Amino acid sequence: MKTTHDLCSFVCGLFVLQTVSSAPEVSPLPVECYNPPGDSCHWYHECLEVVYPCQESVDDYGVRYAEKYCTLFTKNSPFFSNKGKEWINATRKCLQAALVPLFRQHMTLTCKEIKTIAFESHAECYVRPSPTVSFCDIVQDWLTIFWTTKQAFVDSTLSSLKLLNEVMRRCTQRLIG
Ligand SMILES: *[C@@H]1O[C@H](CO)[C@@H](O)[C@H](O)[C@H]1NC(C)=O
Repeated sequence: MKTTHDLCSFVCGLFVLQTVSSAPEVSPLPVECYNPPGDSCHWYHECLEVVYPCQESVDDYGVRYAEKYCTLFTKNSPFFSNKGKEWINATRKCLQAALVPLFRQHMTLTCKEIKTIAFESHAECYVRPSPTVSFCDIVQDWLTIFWTTKQAFVDSTLSSLKLLNEVMRRCTQRLIG
């Protein structure tokens, strides 16, 4: 009886050790996740959500918020000027690229922290998503942008207004600076 018990603690111990040491293995993300080409809105589902499954959280940012806006802008892009289309493409890429560093933190962040970090990157990505285009310069598309975001105004009205305020502040600074 005793030997059986000892044998079990030995074998079971090995088994537990084996399970524990092989548990944290996460399948590697596709390489595009680390260098988003910015040509699609699936990045949120296929990359961010894989590492940080926040979709069911109240603090979901990627799927409920970012992907929704991304899809709306992409859908409405025929109504934008050429410069506006360029701005949509650059902003899409900028917003996704801003979140890539989160993948290096090995799931140590909460959904709420991700949301905060993401929102902090917004103003800069809208104002200057790439060296050649800026929100401040596409005045002819502002109404379309407003109308596009309005379609998604379900939850974060206040943060959207704060964002708009911050974006306009930066545009004014560019104008006078
Ligand atoms: C924006 O991206 C789409 C899809 O990748 C591409 O077809 C289009 O030419 C781009 N438009 C501009 C103005 O960069």
